[in-house]
Amino acid sequence: MTTIKAVRGTRDILPPESAVWNFVEEKVREVFRAYNFQEIRTPVFESTELFARGVGEETDIVAKEMYTWEDRGRAESDKGQSLTLRPEATAGIVRAYIEHNLGERGLNKLYLIGPMFRRERPQKGRYRQFYQIDVEVIGPPSSGSESPARDAEVIEMIATLLDKLRIKGWNLQLNSVGCPDDRARFNEALRKALEPVVAQMCSDCQRRAVTNPLRVFDCKVTADQPIIEKLPRVSQFLDEPCRRHFDELQEILTNVGVDFHINDRLVRGLDYYTRTAFEFTHGALGAQNAILGGGRYDGLSESLGGSPAPGIGFAIGEDRLVMTLQETVGDVVKKPDLYLAPLGAGMNREAAKLARELRRENLVVDLGDEDFRLKKSFEQATRAGAKYILIVGENETKAGAFALKNLETGEQVSVPRGELYRAIRRQEH
Ligand code: HAM
Repeated sequence: MTTIKAVRGTRDILPPESAVWNFVEEKVREVFRAYNFQEIRTPVFESTELFARGVGEETDIVAKEMYTWEDRGRAESDKGQSLTLRPEATAGIVRAYIEHNLGERGLNKLYLIGPMFRRERPQKGRYRQFYQIDVEVIGPPSSGSESPARDAEVIEMIATLLDKLRIKGWNLQLNSVGCPDDRARFNEALRKALEPVVAQMCSDCQRRAVTNPLRVFDCKVTADQPIIEKLPRVSQFLDEPCRRHFDELQEILTNVGVDFHINDRLVRGLDYYTRTAFEFTHGALGAQNAILGGGRYDGLSESLGGSPAPGIGFAIGEDRLVMTLQETVGDVVKKPDLYLAPLGAGMNREAAKLARELRRENLVVDLGDEDFRLKKSFEQATRAGAKYILIVGENETKAGAFALKNLETGEQVSVPRGELYRAIRRQEH
C-alpha cells in the first residue's frame, strides 16, 4: 500500500527544530510585552470578501493564491458562502477591530502568531502553509495612530527582537508609498510611461497596466526588469504631509540608531499600504530573502466599512526566521536532567513515584521500563541526551539511597532520596 505524505508545500515541524520555534516565540512574547503589546487570535478562515476588499483584487495573493471554497453547510445561512483560509493576518485583525469596537479603547497594540495559507510555487523558504508573527498598531486618529512615532516604535521593536535572537546581517529597506492622492497621480504617470512599452511585457503586467499599474513592481519576470527599472518612482509623487511623515520617521530611526536603506522600488504586494512600507531581508536566505514585511494602512478600516483607524504593522515569516537560526538548535533544546531506569519486577511503580517527586521540583525526567535490561536503559538514556542516569532497583528503594551516575563524566555517587533533587541541581551549576 502506498503511504500518505504531507501535501505539497506543507511540512511537519519536528523536534529538535520545534525547540527553535518555541525559543523564537518565547523571545517574541518577552520583547512584545516590553512594548506593551497584547495577543489577539482570529479565525483561520474568514469570508472571501474580507481579503478581496482588504488585500485587493489585483494582488497576486487574491488573484492567484487563495485557498477558497464554497461552504456546503445545509443551514440557509451557510449556503453559498465563499470562505478562504487566511493568506495574511492584517485584514482579519482589522475586521475584529471594527466588529468589537476596539477603537473605543484608544490605541490597540496587538500581535498574532499562527499559520497562513497561500498557493504559491513551493521552494526553499516558501510554503503553502507558513507561519507569521504579525503585529498591528491601530486606533482612531485621536489615539495618535497616525504619528510617525508609531512607525518608528514598531520598526525599532523589530530591530530589538532580531538583536535579542542574535540574528545578524539583516537589512532594513524603507520607502513611502504615499497617500491615496499621491498614488492616483503616480498610477496615472505609470500608465503613461507603460503605454509605449507594455506590449513587450508579460501578460500579468499587461493586465496590471490597465487595472492597477503600481502592481507592475511586483513582477518577477527577468525580461521585464529593465523596463520596470526605468519607470517613475512613487517617491517623486509624495505630497508635503507624506514627505514630512517619512522624514520624521527617518529622523527618529537615525536617532535611536536603527540603520536603514531607502528603496524607492519597494511598493509591497498588498494594496492596503499607505505611506510607510518596509522589509527586512537577510543574506543567508537565498531567493526568498524577506524575513518580514510591513507598513502603514491608514485607509483599510474604511475600506472594510469601519470608521477611520490608521494603523501600522508587519509580519515576520517565522519559517524564514527559524532558518536563520538553524545553528542554535543545540543551544535551545532542553535535554533531560535525569533518566530513571527501573530494574526488576515491580520497580515501575517505585520509579513512577520517584519521577513524580523529582518532576514536581521542575527537573526534566525521562522514565524507562522495568522490562529493559540495564544495557538498554543506558542506551535509552544516552540517546535522550540525559545528564544523569539513576537505577531504581529493589535494594536502592529499600535503602532509600540511589546510585546517581553522571553520563558525561562517568562519575557515580550514592545519594539519599531526599537529597536527589539538590544533588542534580548542584551539579548543573
Ligand atoms: P507579506 O510581505 O505578504 O506581508 O508577508 C510577510 C512575511 O511573511 C514575508 O516577508 C515572508 O517572510 C513571510 N511569507 C510570506 N509568504 C510566505 C510563504 N509562502 N512561505 C513562507 N513565508 C512567507 C503581510 O502578510 C502583511 N499582512 C504584513 C503586514 C502586517 N503589514 C501590515 N501589517
